[in-house]
Amino acid sequence: MELVRSHILVCAGTGCSSSGSEKIIASLEEHLQAVHLEKEVRVIKTGCFGLCALGPIVVVYPEGSFYSRVTPSDAEEIVKEHILKGRVVRRLLYQETVQGNEIKSLNETGFYKKQLRIALRNCGVINPEIIDEYIAFDGYQALSRALTEQTPGEIIETIKKSGLRGRGGGGFPTGLKWEFAFKQPPGQKYVCCNADEGDPGAFMDRSILEGDPHSVIEAMAVAGYCIGANQGYIYVRAEYPIAVERLKIAIAQAKEYGLLGEHIFGSDFSFDLEIRLGAGAFVCGEETALMTSIEGHRGEPRPRPPFPAVKGLFGRPTILNNVETYANISWILNNGAEAFRAIGTERSAGTKVFALGGKIVNTGLVEIPMGTTMREVVEEIGGGCPNGKAFKAAQTGGPSGGCIPASMIDTPIEYDTLTAIGSMMGSGGMIIMDEDNCMVDIAKYFLDFTVDESCGKCTPCRIGTKRLYQILEKITSGRGTMEDLDLMEELCYHIKGSSLCGLGQTAPNPVLSTLRHFRHEYEAHVRDRKCPAHVCKALMRYNILENCRGCTACARVCPVSAISGKVKEVHVIDQDKCIKCGACLEKCKFSAIVKE
Ligand SMILES: Cc1cc2nc3c(=O)[nH]c(=O)nc-3n(C[C@H](O)[C@H](O)[C@H](O)COP(=O)(O)O)c2cc1C
Ligand code: SF4
Ligand code: SF4
Repeated sequence: MELVRSHILVCAGTGCSSSGSEKIIASLEEHLQAVHLEKEVRVIKTGCFGLCALGPIVVVYPEGSFYSRVTPSDAEEIVKEHILKGRVVRRLLYQETVQGNEIKSLNETGFYKKQLRIALRNCGVINPEIIDEYIAFDGYQALSRALTEQTPGEIIETIKKSGLRGRGGGGFPTGLKWEFAFKQPPGQKYVCCNADEGDPGAFMDRSILEGDPHSVIEAMAVAGYCIGANQGYIYVRAEYPIAVERLKIAIAQAKEYGLLGEHIFGSDFSFDLEIRLGAGAFVCGEETALMTSIEGHRGEPRPRPPFPAVKGLFGRPTILNNVETYANISWILNNGAEAFRAIGTERSAGTKVFALGGKIVNTGLVEIPMGTTMREVVEEIGGGCPNGKAFKAAQTGGPSGGCIPASMIDTPIEYDTLTAIGSMMGSGGMIIMDEDNCMVDIAKYFLDFTVDESCGKCTPCRIGTKRLYQILEKITSGRGTMEDLDLMEELCYHIKGSSLCGLGQTAPNPVLSTLRHFRHEYEAHVRDRKCPAHVCKALMRYNILENCRGCTACARVCPVSAISGKVKEVHVIDQDKCIKCGACLEKCKFSAIVKE
């Protein structure tokens, strides 16, 4: 590979792309050409760096200067000051790296200090559209060693020893899954990758595919070799156009290099890979529904057993793993099972990627060793809740998961501890809530999602979740009774116990976990007809206090003319007319309006 003086890395993940990183790349290239440095300095488009809240991100190497919120018009200054004169553009630096006159490395900042990147090791480092860059970072070494030096049994043993568990939600041991399929009689078998990623707020898998697609392709080929499959499918939702495009490029390049196709590395092993686009139904992430969808039918779950390892795609033995699970495979094979086991905890080895969102300063993608506490994630990595608000809860596992209350902030994040406290690891969505969130409203939000996404095949899920939603609506509109709380709990267990697939079996989790940790909030809605967080509109009112100066600002802004009063006299809100839009509160300069 050609040597150059400097590299300018520009994030081209979905977040940064949507805020203009393609234009930044074009502008950087244009200004480099203007000073005849286009051959000495290379602009590289990468996947996600993680700190999405500060995008678009540009990093200049060898210094490692981390520029945030860059615009195309900043490109000229970066070229003229940093590249030509060697002077860092301080105003663009991520402020946490600036300490007095010193500029610290990114790894010393709160956001990155506690992170460890295994699945994301190449994201933000290589250009995902150039296979040579992946190869330069040990890419396809694991596959070459597998095909030339190792037996399928040895590889499966390594994966089993590593303790890797599925990152798609269930946490099933990956090596064991592969062994089941390996033990099936020879014949047509398949390898599938679940890149459906339907959880609201989650974008871990999308970022891996956008930033390092070859890590998934290589691992799928290794899986194919292990179980004796010559065909693989990657099921990606069509709403991920950048991921799909980069996957297409990566598959074409792997074929061109002979890393996919016939007789890979001159061996007897042949493996081909195809992309299948999903239309974006949450239930299609469920493994049997996903395979039914690939077969060309409507994506509805099938009863298990038989499990896919025995009877999967087109009725043949199949392994299906999540994108992040695959992204760990080459690292394990290159570094050894012990190295992976040494990270994380006894029962949850390695790291987990989370999409950190909601009421948190540093929203983005984080990869942490298992066992990191929720406090470390919220306070150190996430930088706490914005505007000094108090942390109230973290929702993990998306609609299938639950809420971890502030009192349990020191809980280590690993499969079993999260399940024990009524939440779950899930695929990695982590939504932070502060004191302004109503937990009944949160439960309603997730249930609304599952009601919409239920495929309708079985009654407990189709009708039960709708009934649960109706009760929640009754409570948030101030018509709930204490009996409703008991009824809801009973219904939750009924839906969990009798639904056909994981969607229905886990749909009540957000209700159960909020009932468990925030029952007092439900009771306040029912007994006191109050929403403590002032979120549920029907239970909330705006009032004007005695210190009103009668400036009329509120009355002028009210869209429904609910405010009356004479100039310089205390105003009054007609509660029957008020639509609770909050415009008056925002307008009042004298803090005379309160939300109760
Ligand atoms: C309703 C539902 C949606 C799911 N969505 C996904 C998904 O988007 N991605 C994923 O990897 N697994 C998803 N799963 C879990 C898969 O069924 C399956 O367990 C997983 O893909 C297996 O891979 P792993 O062992 O590597 O985790 C979902 C499960 C259910 C019940
Ligand atoms: S549990 Fe829900 S999503 Fe799953 S099969 Fe039944 S109706 Fe469909
Ligand atoms: S909350 Fe909105 S509708 Fe109600 S009084 Fe204020 S401005 Fe008018």
